Amino acid sequence: MGFSFSLSLAAIFFLLSWALLPLSIVSHPVSTYSIHANFTATNFQFIDTYGTFLSSQNGTFKASISNLDQQPSHYYFSVSHADSNSVIWSANRNAPMSSSDEVSLTTNGLTVVGEAGNVLWSTPPLNSEVDAMQLLETGNLVLVDARNNTLWESFQHPTDTIVVGQRIRIGTSLQSAVSDVDMLPGDYRLEVTDGDAVLQWNTMTYWELSMDAKASKNSNVNVSFLEMNESGLYLLGSDGSTIVTQVALTYASDFRIGKLGSEGRFSISRFVSDNWLLEFAAPAENCRIPLFCRKIGLCTSKPLSASCSCPLQFRSQIDGECVPMDSSLSLPSACNDTRNTSQFNINSVTYIGLGSGMDYFAIDFMNPVRNGISLSLCQDLCSANCSCLGIFHGSSSLSCYLLENYLGSIILSSKPTNDYWGYIKVLASSSSPPKHKFPIAALVLLPSSGFLILTTFVILGIVCLRKNTLSKTGTAKWSRCDSSSSADLEIISIPGLPRRFDYEELVAATENFKTQIGKGGFGTVYKGTLSDKSVVAVKKMTSLGVEGKKEFCTEIAVIGNVHHVNLVRLKGFCVRARQRFLVLEYMSKGSLDRTLFGNGPVLEWGERVEIALGTARGLAYLHSGCEHKIIHCDVKPQNILLHDNLQVKISDFGLSKLLSPEQSGLYTTMRGTRGYLAPEWLTSSAISDKSDVYGYGMVLLEIVRGRKNSTLQTWSDGISGGDGLSTSSYGSETRSIYFPLCALEMHEQNRYLELADRRLEGRVTSEEVEKLVRIALCCVHEDPALRPTMANVVSMLEGGLPVGEPRVDSLNFLRYYGRRFTEVSRKEGSNEQDEFGLYDPSTNPTSETATNGSYNSMSYLSSQQVSGPR
Ligand SMILES: *[C@@H]1O[C@H](CO)[C@@H](O)[C@H](O)[C@H]1NC(C)=O
Ligand SMILES: *[C@@H]1O[C@H](CO)[C@@H](O)[C@H](O)[C@H]1NC(C)=O
Ligand SMILES: *[C@@H]1O[C@H](CO)[C@@H](O)[C@H](O)[C@H]1NC(C)=O
Ligand SMILES: *[C@@H]1O[C@H](CO)[C@@H](O)[C@H](O)[C@H]1NC(C)=O
Ligand SMILES: *[C@@H]1O[C@H](CO)[C@@H](O)[C@H](O)[C@H]1NC(C)=O
Ligand SMILES: *[C@@H]1O[C@H](CO)[C@@H](O)[C@H](O)[C@H]1NC(C)=O
Ligand SMILES: *[C@@H]1O[C@H](CO)[C@@H](O)[C@H](O)[C@H]1NC(C)=O
Ligand SMILES: *[C@@H]1O[C@H](CO)[C@@H](O)[C@H](O)[C@H]1NC(C)=O
Repeated sequence: MGFSFSLSLAAIFFLLSWALLPLSIVSHPVSTYSIHANFTATNFQFIDTYGTFLSSQNGTFKASISNLDQQPSHYYFSVSHADSNSVIWSANRNAPMSSSDEVSLTTNGLTVVGEAGNVLWSTPPLNSEVDAMQLLETGNLVLVDARNNTLWESFQHPTDTIVVGQRIRIGTSLQSAVSDVDMLPGDYRLEVTDGDAVLQWNTMTYWELSMDAKASKNSNVNVSFLEMNESGLYLLGSDGSTIVTQVALTYASDFRIGKLGSEGRFSISRFVSDNWLLEFAAPAENCRIPLFCRKIGLCTSKPLSASCSCPLQFRSQIDGECVPMDSSLSLPSACNDTRNTSQFNINSVTYIGLGSGMDYFAIDFMNPVRNGISLSLCQDLCSANCSCLGIFHGSSSLSCYLLENYLGSIILSSKPTNDYWGYIKVLASSSSPPKHKFPIAALVLLPSSGFLILTTFVILGIVCLRKNTLSKTGTAKWSRCDSSSSADLEIISIPGLPRRFDYEELVAATENFKTQIGKGGFGTVYKGTLSDKSVVAVKKMTSLGVEGKKEFCTEIAVIGNVHHVNLVRLKGFCVRARQRFLVLEYMSKGSLDRTLFGNGPVLEWGERVEIALGTARGLAYLHSGCEHKIIHCDVKPQNILLHDNLQVKISDFGLSKLLSPEQSGLYTTMRGTRGYLAPEWLTSSAISDKSDVYGYGMVLLEIVRGRKNSTLQTWSDGISGGDGLSTSSYGSETRSIYFPLCALEMHEQNRYLELADRRLEGRVTSEEVEKLVRIALCCVHEDPALRPTMANVVSMLEGGLPVGEPRVDSLNFLRYYGRRFTEVSRKEGSNEQDEFGLYDPSTNPTSETATNGSYNSMSYLSSQQVSGPR
């Protein structure tokens, strides 16, 4: 009995202790997902739960008053991911609180209040009374009214983080924290603009999503917000589903976070079995982070890392910043020098050279203040402007960039085309006024260590030598593509290089190069299927030797980093001994020339306009949308590929060269296809993006007509019956004529309809034809300056810009061309010949030459391929 009593007593005690357990928790406030107004909390009150008083329903996220370091006054009210303890949002990041400061929820909103009753942070005035604060399963902290309408949400007020399901709308931004434990706002921002997502340091851009090697641009609609989900990071249009730009990530439902780190890098990581897996980093290269090597530190890229040093004539300070070695030289601070200006007047400004091949994180995203000026003029511009702290000067382009207000790290460029010389502005104290500008001044001022001076001279000598070799032989910069194994390593370290395939993989994919689908100037194209079942076009480059390598490298460097919905995407490449292959997106519908000139179903007018627009957008992107201006140089229907739904994809950048924006005017070593070649190809004038506009104009005429311009068009003059193009003369003379000339003449007579493809049989209006013909004529103006830019062509086609007025005085050359063209064709006895290459001026110098003024009509008609510099 006694035994059973004690047993039941123990059981009761046991049961009681279980029953009391929840009570003991209840005695502290419960951590729930929803809290009603009025409510207050301090860290101290919730000390047992480390300040946590709100948890999302499944416990994925928690809201707490906590600190990341042990500082007593460093508490923040934040939402964090429970398992990884990573903060995704904090309320009072500008004003940290103490452990006894309150978070208070009233019907007016949420506030963080200091001990003295001072408001450290609060929600803005709300539209109705707050009923409750809820922490949703997504990590979104919301305030709702009694009818459960959302009044305010933390997702709309991001700090430095984006999580799945959160939208960063246009105009809002993520802002970095000053350090990993201190959430005060730092100097870096990820801003969503109407076309892109950009990273900025102060006012300088250092990364753009659309230029990132991992991003692809899918559409041209305006951006509405940035979003991340289980399969990627997206810039989306206002409908919430049109993808403008995307970065594809491995599909995963793990916790994923995109965070703008305190160092200025935006990275996306995934939390997998207690570890962080880095999935995406922007910028990918360490040296592209503005202060990776602190102020003026010299950053040298290494595969997977980077190293820092101070430039020659600078020494490292204790904080890692570099200062002039000569203590009589000092760095100015922008427009804010408290020292007496008469002491540091303009005469005491001098420059320390950094050498050539220098790059700066902001240069790709800024405009030169002036182009075509000498180094000393550029320095004068900087000297006269107190906000200027340094300059970059292109030695061949003569463009001048001023670095204003802030100086970051300097990059030792790995780009073979880089020819910038960097200079840092310094002030000399009046006690030793410098008599010369750098380099002599700097050398004279160096400490009298003979060894130092000697090394300086040696290094300067090497730099000069290198520069000379570069400018003498354009090929020197391509030496990295020689297929030795060390060069292979270098190829691999080129940032943004696409996937490298094994030769065996390509043999398997193409079944030993069985199905040939095309042949061009640069090689043969085969259809293939990769192991993941995706269909690709494998381009086997035929041109070997230096020439072939050079072209191959060009294509890789260019296409690998260009992603646009209207441009063929390079999926990878393969190098095998002297053979080179490109693996490209496969386009199911072949090229425009087949669809347009072939015997298949006729392209409807609407489809033609779409093709014209897609082509214009692709070219506009090449000219101004990507990091380096790219001139296609071979715009023709064979290079305009069509995908399902007749989506345009421009191909063959093999003729393009990587151009920095200011080099574009100097570009003369190009080759192109006759018929689409602008007149300036035949004269000594510079080739520019406007040369592509000319080619585009010619293609546009072919799109209107449905036939090649290079076939004679039989034309009946006078009263036009029906389409006016019947070969039987209709009471008037029939003549054969060069189509672009026809277009000019019909434009002068306002007879546009007759120009349209006769197979359309009236399914197009005169106004529609007029629009395209007028745009085309503007594009083929003889004077490149009178041609619109491709961006303007896009606007004209879309209707945003009025269609330009063709200038007949700059189109008269078509009459010469036309006449000569007809004569040549007649002599050939055929008016249907495809190409008209009879006289090549380079082999037949006696053919009609400069007598026609600035252009040479004969050579236009007959030039085969223009190659080599002119
Ligand atoms: C909450 O506090 C506000 C003032 O801060 C007061 O007007 C309101 O009546 C309170 N509501 C409740 C339910 O206590
Ligand atoms: C939360 O838990 C419920 C029930 O356990 C489950 O159905 C739901 O999918 C969970 N939600 C999330 C976001 O994990
Ligand atoms: C309030 O709305 C949220 C989503 O808007 C929903 O998940 C929740 O169930 C709603 N709560 C109530 C009590 O209706
Ligand atoms: C896109 O944005 C530009 C510039 O902000 C504006 O002019 C244009 O109207 C917008 N287009 C659409 C379709 O909203
Ligand atoms: C992620 O969002 C994009 C864009 O809205 C969408 O196309 C994709 O299907 C989404 N992925 C998942 C897994 O929901
Ligand atoms: C000038 O310098 C002081 C101290 O270095 C700084 O507080 C101030 O903001 C600066 N002013 C400007 C206009 O940069
Ligand atoms: C600056 O120089 C002027 C004359 O050169 C002098 O009158 C003035 O006192 C100086 N100011 C300071 C702060 O040194
Ligand atoms: C310095 O240059 C900036 C930008 O080029 C310009 O806005 C500013 O007005 C210039 N300041 C002076 C004093 O010329």
